[in-house]
Formats: sequence, structure tokens, C-alpha cells
Amino acid sequence: MFAHLRPQADDPILVLMRAFQADPRPGKVDLGIGVWRDAEGRTPVFGAVKTAEERLWRTQDTKSYVSFAGDPAFHAAVGDLLLGSVTRPRAVTATTGGTSAVQTLLALSQVARPAAQVWIPAETWPNHRVLAEHLGLATRAFTYLAPEGTGIDREVLLRDLAQAQAGDVVILHACCHNPTGIDPDPELQAEIVDSLARTGAVPLVDCAYLGFGAVPEADAAFLRRLASLPEAMLAFSGSKSFGLYRERVGLALVLLEQPGVVEAVQSQLTRLNRVNYSFPPDHGARVVTEILADPALRTAWEAELAAIRTALSANRQALAKALRARLQSDRFDGLAAQSGMFAMLPLGKERVMRMREDFAVYAVGTGRVNLAGVTPRTTDRVAEAIAAVLRD
Ligand code: LMR
Repeated sequence: MFAHLRPQADDPILVLMRAFQADPRPGKVDLGIGVWRDAEGRTPVFGAVKTAEERLWRTQDTKSYVSFAGDPAFHAAVGDLLLGSVTRPRAVTATTGGTSAVQTLLALSQVARPAAQVWIPAETWPNHRVLAEHLGLATRAFTYLAPEGTGIDREVLLRDLAQAQAGDVVILHACCHNPTGIDPDPELQAEIVDSLARTGAVPLVDCAYLGFGAVPEADAAFLRRLASLPEAMLAFSGSKSFGLYRERVGLALVLLEQPGVVEAVQSQLTRLNRVNYSFPPDHGARVVTEILADPALRTAWEAELAAIRTALSANRQALAKALRARLQSDRFDGLAAQSGMFAMLPLGKERVMRMREDFAVYAVGTGRVNLAGVTPRTTDRVAEAIAAVLRD
């Protein structure tokens, strides 16, 4: 039965992670997978998470099943975090991390409209396309960056999106665009919302880096604009914003026009969970709920998030400055103004490979770098590697 199977091409981010781990060179620098690391290269557990876990350890008296859609308190807490005062009829389920939130929402779209096309930004998290294709959904790319790679090609992006059909799905990033770090400004956000309102295509907003670009309220601005559309889907991940990577915290939320549709959509979400994994994991979701519901814990969490944000921004500034000095050019100045964990350096695959081979500096093949890896200790090495591969 299995003898004819061939290995699948691995996700480039995971390939990189393995290559980095296997590299024996001291001083190697990991700019790969989207995990926050401090200046010492550690990914500590948030203090607010530790406190919430301690409370749960003391007070939780059962690990029995919750429900197929997860804990309603978690739905409400994350719903409020994402949407603030936007109240809309909604169907919602906890998922096993952000990937499964995206996958669940794509599967729901497929049930609702098997012929739906999924519009995916030309630059995006590689798993978006893989998930859509795995489900057998048709995909279309829409332009995101302009050819020089330093800004969004507004005109072409809007021209592409105008071709979407009613009931197509358009994948957008709530904030801190992965991989480019370049988000639409408020004017373009409004134009994208108008375009979707005209075509009737439905946004699927991937929200994996809330709080990494600005305070959560501000990082939720685009998502809240999109929530004004008749229908919208939100995929939340708690991996980065709460540092709960391995706990698989996710939420899929569907905003609906008619309250009468909620029950049917909710039952579809529940069924998707049942056929995939029955009950979503609860521990991380409960930790998030505890943090968001307790004002002191929430303040502590926001302060920890702010510290990450400040460090990422400082790393960006330092890299831009180091590159300016080495290259005697303002070519990378734009880095400093970008947002979140990532930037995409227009180096080309070959140069990225040379950085890996000659300098043990590991970026994703597309040129994506995780700014958490550009610390005061590594900035010079990274800048030197970039400058060297650009020189030859
Ligand atoms: C990333 O983009 O590096 C992260 O979201 C991790 C992942 O699952 O790919």
C-alpha cells in the first residue's frame, strides 16, 4: 500500500531549521523560523503565562473534555481582543494553533462554495498555499510587493483583487506581514475593504503576530476594518503573541451578516473539528483566557509584548544602520520603518545560500530574516554576510 510513496518537498522554513541545528560552526546565526528569541537566543516563557499556569495548576480540578468548539470563555476573550467593540453575529471555534485555524476556515469555505478560489498574496507564509492546495481548492496569486521589493504595489494589488469573484476567499495578514514586514497603510486598507465590498470576496485574515508591530489595539486596526464587511473570517494564533508555540492555541472566527446563519456555520465548524481531532487542545487556550480576563495579568502580558516589540525594533534599526555603514548606501534604510518579526531582503536565493555556507547566517531562501536573530551580538556578523554577498 505505501511502497510507491515518494518523499514530499518539505516546507522551506522547516528545512532551514534542521540545517541550522545540524551546523556545528560556533557563532552560527539563526534568522529562520518565526520564533521570538531574546539577546541570549532564548525563547523564555512569558511571566504572565507562568502565573496563569500556576493558577490553573492550583484551581483546575478536571481535565475532562470541554466541547468540540472549545471553551466559550476563550472564544469571548480572544474575540474581544481581536474585535474590540465590533459586535457581529459570529460562529467560532478553538483550533490546534493558527495553522489549523486557517485550515478550518478554508475547509469551511470549501463546504460553502466548492468552486471558491483562494487569493493568496504573492509574498506570504508558504503554508497558506500548501493548505489551500491540500484541500483541493483552486488558488490565485495577487500582487503584493512592487518589483523593487521595498513597498506594496498598490495599483496592481487592487487590480488583481478586483478580479476576485463573490464567494472567493482572499488571504490577508492582520499585521506584521510575514515575510515582508510591510503592511498596507490605512488608505490602502480602506481601498482593500472597498474592493472586497464590491466583489463580494470574503477575507480570511491571518492574525499570528498581534502586538509585535504596535499595541494589540493598533495591530488589530486592519482586521477591524475588514470586520465591517458582510462576511469575514479570522484565524488567530497564540503561538507568538503569548509565546505558547507548542501548546497550539488557535481560534477560527466567522463574522456573519445574518444571525439566522450562525447555528448552521457553528455546526459546520464543530463537525470539522470532530473529523479532524474531536476536541481542540485546552491548556494554552485556558492560559490565554486567564491572562486576558485578569487586568493585572493582562497588563503584565502587554508589558512583555512591548519589550519584545521594542527589541525587534531596535534590532531593525541596528541592522539598517550597520548595512548603511558597510554598503555606503541607503538601500536598506526602509528596514527600520517596517513592522513585526520579519523583513525580506532582496538578495536572491543564491546569495542567501552563500550567507549560509560562508558565514553560517541562516535566512529563508526567499531572503526572509527573523529580526529576533539580529541581536547586539550578531548584528555585525549578519551585516557583514549581507554586504559580502552583495559585493561579489
Ligand atoms: C514562520 O513563518 O516561521 C512561523 O509561522 C513558523 C511556521 O510554522 O512556519
